[in-house]
Amino acid sequence: MILIDGKKAAAELREELKKEVSELKSKHNKVPGLTVILIGDLTPSQIYVRNKEKSANEVGLKSEVIRYPDSVDEKTVLDKINELNKDDTVSGILVQLPLPKHIDKQKVIEKISPSKDVDGFHPINVGNLSSGYESSIPCTPLGCYLLIKKIEPNLTGKKAVVVGRSNLNGKPMTQLLLKENCTVTITHSRTKDLKAECLEADIIVAAVGIPELVKGDWVKKDTIVIDVGINKTEKGIVGDVAFDEVSKVAKALTPVPGGVGPMTIACLLKNTIECFKRSQK
Ligand code: GUN
Repeated sequence: MILIDGKKAAAELREELKKEVSELKSKHNKVPGLTVILIGDLTPSQIYVRNKEKSANEVGLKSEVIRYPDSVDEKTVLDKINELNKDDTVSGILVQLPLPKHIDKQKVIEKISPSKDVDGFHPINVGNLSSGYESSIPCTPLGCYLLIKKIEPNLTGKKAVVVGRSNLNGKPMTQLLLKENCTVTITHSRTKDLKAECLEADIIVAAVGIPELVKGDWVKKDTIVIDVGINKTEKGIVGDVAFDEVSKVAKALTPVPGGVGPMTIACLLKNTIECFKRSQK
């Protein structure tokens, strides 16, 4: 079984990005900039944002975090996004989710200029991705995709089963696998026989948020299994895949933590650089 080392893959990607930033700096005399807006003081969000800032600095991006208290009003945030949309030194804007209840998430997402939407959440980018046009690609599925391609560069004709249909993961993951000529089945909580669907798969991407849902006897040998889940349980953080069981049968599997997570942040940096390059065309 290949244990897919997301930490190592992310470090390699950051190394490539660092070189690219340095080349862009020589060519354009400026570096891509990432601005993150963080509202409130939720601990997981604080940790994510700190990691994003650290990684951005490591590859040489200009990085800024704008912090607001939970009580900030929606207009202040929308006005700030407007200002950042017009700022040439800002290549990418990310508003950390979740947001406080009184702020409309969709309004915030749609305020970000599609050309600076490093999350790939803006409807224009969602539409472009599903139409096969150039777009920002959500960081988590992009990270999963790069890990799968490392194990299996040619995905043509493979059967892929995506477990979970979220806008963040399941749906964009499906688009990426379709682009690679996979036959994709999207499954979810109402799927009749999830085990039978998974047993057909050459590739499984589990992103449903149910601890250890995908069992050892749901997986064929030679299947690549990508676990996007991060679930807090009594025994600590576990994924959506029963790691001990599945690692005995799968061809390759990502651990939690240390699998998809580190790649997500590296892909955010990649997206920032892509937005910068498109803005220089
Ligand atoms: N919160 C947890 N994951 C994400 C993400 O990918 N993007 C944003 N903006 N917020 C998040």
